[in-house]
Amino acid sequence: MKYVFPENFWWGSASSALQSEGEGYYTSRGETTWDHWFASQPNRFHQETGPQDTSQFYRHWQDDIQLLKQLNHNSFRTSLSWARLIPNGIGEVNPEAVAFYNQVINELIEQGITPFITLFHFDMPMAMQEMGGWENREVVDAYARYAKICFELFGDRVLHWFTFNEPIVPVEGGYLYDFHYPNVVDFRRAATVAYNTVLAHAKAVQAFRAGHYAGEIGIVLNLTPSYPRSQNPEDRKAAHHADLLFNRSFLDPVLRGKYPADLVTLLKDYDQLPKCQAEDSSTIAEGTIDLLGINYYQPRRVKCRDSIVNPLTPFMPEWLFDNYEMPGRKMNPYRGWEIYEPGIYDILVNLRDNYGNPRCFISENGMGVENEQRFIENGKINDQYRIDFISGHLKWLHKGISEGCNCLGYHMWTFIDNWSWCNAYKNRYGFIQLDLATQKRTIKKSGEWFAITAINNGFDE
Ligand code: NOJ
Repeated sequence: MKYVFPENFWWGSASSALQSEGEGYYTSRGETTWDHWFASQPNRFHQETGPQDTSQFYRHWQDDIQLLKQLNHNSFRTSLSWARLIPNGIGEVNPEAVAFYNQVINELIEQGITPFITLFHFDMPMAMQEMGGWENREVVDAYARYAKICFELFGDRVLHWFTFNEPIVPVEGGYLYDFHYPNVVDFRRAATVAYNTVLAHAKAVQAFRAGHYAGEIGIVLNLTPSYPRSQNPEDRKAAHHADLLFNRSFLDPVLRGKYPADLVTLLKDYDQLPKCQAEDSSTIAEGTIDLLGINYYQPRRVKCRDSIVNPLTPFMPEWLFDNYEMPGRKMNPYRGWEIYEPGIYDILVNLRDNYGNPRCFISENGMGVENEQRFIENGKINDQYRIDFISGHLKWLHKGISEGCNCLGYHMWTFIDNWSWCNAYKNRYGFIQLDLATQKRTIKKSGEWFAITAINNGFDE
């Protein structure tokens, strides 16, 4: 069967500033929460590897863009570093950073690769975190200022902007489950952080609209379909609550301009509503987007808690921490995450049927693999499993498109193996293998497959 995609389909991959640039806060940018956390608790990071150990895009950007070209990318997403552009988050703009990003953006365009730019990908300037991070509305305003500065500096050439990458992740990691700084576990504070992030997003959109820049603006959300583990009413209710808390807490504001009534009721019932100001609802209403990026890795299989651990979160799913066995459940044998290709289709159909079929694209999808060197054959990683993973998802994506879903592209995570937060290099995701010590780059079999797929605008199987 032939899987052919629409004309001008976006083929590419994604990365982020902190995960790839290198040249850290000792040299050319402000400190981020990750630098700070790593300096104080290196043992929280796999093999004590911190954000200074990257593929050094700051130095290798020209060669890396050549590699993107070799992989036949017509588009590529990465982020700008707030702490590089404005080292303390709110003060002067760093001219070296402007020059760097100008070079990167210009070179991408020169090589026929459309830049997709994210403004915030988990890397909070430490000075902003010291003011309370997203718990403080002054930080929200500082972010909106930073966004406007970026639109002014690069908006003549960047036509696809994203305010945030996976904004629910710093909420979960930093305020619920302790895998991001500031390592707080407190539902009330998590709710405030999520709410203020929505406001920050909306204020950036307002600034974008007010400036009449050429391109379009969106956000990248990790949408994880929430399937109940059984049909009993408790599990179904828990799945609905997980969907409200982890998907719709961002999806509804950015597409419908308001929060779901059920979510407001849930938070009210447990006295967890964040503090609002009179003008917030109109700000949020003005934050609706032009383009949605969807990151999809695996679904949530939700079960109601057997015993109520915290009465404030009686329906919080256990999905993060247990190994749930279900007949026929397909797992990634090299990392342990579920592989469920139809999830990508379910997301698109939900957007089509319930959210007015917005312009969207898959902004991340990928497969992490531990000890991937074991698959080297004749000097190159033979990652057929990754090709199967991508083609499996592309088939369901193709089905969604053929049924009218408005999906405009597919970006894989990621271009070159990169530093992945607390996991550092534990799981490799790239089309290109990185030898961290020598900085040597070697294209994997999946990279070659993708290059052919992109140039043919599809594949045969
Ligand atoms: C999604 C995030 O956007 C990215 O930063 C991360 O490295 C990948 N998931 C893999 O975990």
